[in-house]
Amino acid sequence: MDFKDLAKARYSVRKFSDIKVEQEKLDEILRAANAAPTACNNQPQRLYVVNSAEGIAKLSAITKYTFGASTIIIFTSKTSEEWKNPFTDDYNTGDIDISIVCTHAMMQAWELGIGSCWVGYFDPEKVRAAFSIPADEKIIALLPLGYPKEDCKPAGLHFKRKPLEDTVKYL
Ligand SMILES: Cc1cc2nc3c(=O)[nH]c(=O)nc-3n(C[C@H](O)[C@H](O)[C@H](O)COP(=O)(O)O)c2cc1C
Repeated sequence: MDFKDLAKARYSVRKFSDIKVEQEKLDEILRAANAAPTACNNQPQRLYVVNSAEGIAKLSAITKYTFGASTIIIFTSKTSEEWKNPFTDDYNTGDIDISIVCTHAMMQAWELGIGSCWVGYFDPEKVRAAFSIPADEKIIALLPLGYPKEDCKPAGLHFKRKPLEDTVKYL
């Protein structure tokens, strides 16, 4: 699939089949995430792969947005490794870097036929406590992964994109 088709076809999958993501595909997703650009190449990302029924149950108790996935990646940023913009304090490269890393994972997954949904609706401190994530890491995203269930369809929001004229200005 070329990138144009991939970018258009991907949607947030919120209904997963019971088939587990194979380790080799998971490895490919993790390698694509690892290839993401980060500010100054600092690579502050840390990825925690939750792959056990016990771990998934813990996450499901924290957020309703796990969608029956049997693999969920927790994305964090090690704050001491984040690049700092010397011109402003208001530029969080941890959030930016991890967003790119997570997007690489989402797109690679889709190319392999594996769906995902970026999840931001969770209490990070509950996730930290449940998995003993170090205090110096900011927990940024959860990414449930899996094969879409047969009757899974994009939600209505997927089809709502602002027209380019609203979001792009030529200067
Ligand atoms: C930063 C971020 C946080 C999100 N958090 C959630 C979430 O907590 N729960 C959820 O169901 N979807 C979540 N989404 C998915 C968006 O709702 C979805 O990407 C958007 O509606 C467009 O739909 P599409 O991905 O199907 O094209 C999140 C997406 C992003 C980028």
